[in-house]
Amino acid sequence: MNTISTEKLKTGLKTKFIGQEIKHYESIPSTNAEGRRLAEEGVDEGTVVISEEQTQGRGRRGRAWSSPKGGIWLTIILRPKIPPSYAPVITLLTGIVCAKTIEKVTKLKPTLKWPNDVHIKGKKVCGILTELSSEPDMVKYALVGLGINANNKISDFPKELQAQVTTLITELKQPINRVDFFQNLLMEFERLYIPFTKDPIVNIPKIIKSWCGISDTIGRDVKIETITGTIAGFATEISEDGSLIVVTKSGEKERIIAGDCIYLDQDNE
Ligand code: BTN
Repeated sequence: MNTISTEKLKTGLKTKFIGQEIKHYESIPSTNAEGRRLAEEGVDEGTVVISEEQTQGRGRRGRAWSSPKGGIWLTIILRPKIPPSYAPVITLLTGIVCAKTIEKVTKLKPTLKWPNDVHIKGKKVCGILTELSSEPDMVKYALVGLGINANNKISDFPKELQAQVTTLITELKQPINRVDFFQNLLMEFERLYIPFTKDPIVNIPKIIKSWCGISDTIGRDVKIETITGTIAGFATEISEDGSLIVVTKSGEKERIIAGDCIYLDQDNE
């Protein structure tokens, strides 16, 4: 496995502020947890925390996130001057960034599953966990955690996950250069993030359009498990706050802010 160092990650990284400060670790519990500690300490916007492995990686809805060596486990610390209601768009934007980077670096064709998964051929290759610290009308900071199954074997993951996940090395049949991937990811992130924060009103519709263009959720029969219950229907669009719009059998339009999406025409996604 090629080794990563802060110096390698920074050399040739052409960004204004994303990744201009990098904290690289061999092993930590969670880059999001470390990101929160650093954000509270007052580090600059764009600081990136990356670890070779995580011992207590966190997924959405309190789940564990398996993070063995060979993957790309990182958190970007952001200080966007936006209201908290716009924050779900950061997750959509990050999904686009991740899919585009995978396509650029590997020529594979990933798809996006609402709200936060990147898939290749129906299997999860990347998950995104955006965590916020916020005042009622303004975000204090956002932690964008990205877990990319890169140079990992499927057998590196727990048995119960193996049928649902894929990794870049598995799809490509050769390892990726993680430094190159990381740099492309951060450059693409900055390219979309700067206009989003400068003018959210103009840019959110563009982000949603771009997300829908790569998504495999829109135009699909889905079942969404939310904390208050399950809603089944046809996924039609994403609204400006990142919610999924589902039209139920009885013709009701439901707006779903958060939940787990299951494709009813396929049980392996
Ligand atoms: C999910 O699909 O449930 C989201 C997974 C997010 C995992 C990443 S790995 C880097 C960062 N640190 C964490 O503890 N979680 C996120």
